[in-house]
Amino acid sequence: MPIVFDAYGTLFDVHAAIARHRTAAGPDADAFSELWRTRQLEYSWTLTLAGRYEDFWTLTQRALDYSFERFPSVNRALRADLLDAYLNLDAFADAGDVLRALRGRGERTAVLSNGSPRMLAAAVETAGLQSELDAVLSVDTLKMFKPRPEVYTLVTEAFSCKPADVAFVSSNRWDVMGASAFGFRAIWVNRAGNPDEYADCPPVAVVSSLTELLSVRI
Ligand code: LAC
Repeated sequence: MPIVFDAYGTLFDVHAAIARHRTAAGPDADAFSELWRTRQLEYSWTLTLAGRYEDFWTLTQRALDYSFERFPSVNRALRADLLDAYLNLDAFADAGDVLRALRGRGERTAVLSNGSPRMLAAAVETAGLQSELDAVLSVDTLKMFKPRPEVYTLVTEAFSCKPADVAFVSSNRWDVMGASAFGFRAIWVNRAGNPDEYADCPPVAVVSSLTELLSVRI
């Protein structure tokens, strides 16, 4: 069964960019980073609903610019550094070991992400995960974002399999909803212990870290 991972928030820590520049960003750093992420996702959903598309890197930049407007305390001179940090985001500490362990068991692994191919290539390379992944799939080929069902077909096409044959791992509960609705065996990485949502599209398992994946039946 292919085990497919969401990228941003799941393998890569979206708040690692601000973490590298926290002192320079000042006291609003965390709220700024939250807004940056929230707007980035919101733009992906609203454009998809409107039948439009701009790639995720463009939306990441627009969301960052909006966040600078909302938080004048954060120095705009950080823009280039924050974008560079986002392009080369840190993976969560356990990501590499977990992918290696899964592949050691003979599993096939992949990424399915809203990220543009350039963003994904940079993040995977920075984290040294290239050799741990059979495929890195970007929604960019379809020009629409998750959780549109068409996007999840990229996996079943790449692996010539049925939805029920795919284990899909995401920290984003809305992405777990989309994957579960499509028929994947969806696993929610709930690091923060957030309350559940989307009760009619549940995960088959909930874990609190990527490491815990190794001890659940996938
Ligand atoms: C992704 C977004 C959901 O990587 O974070 O697809």
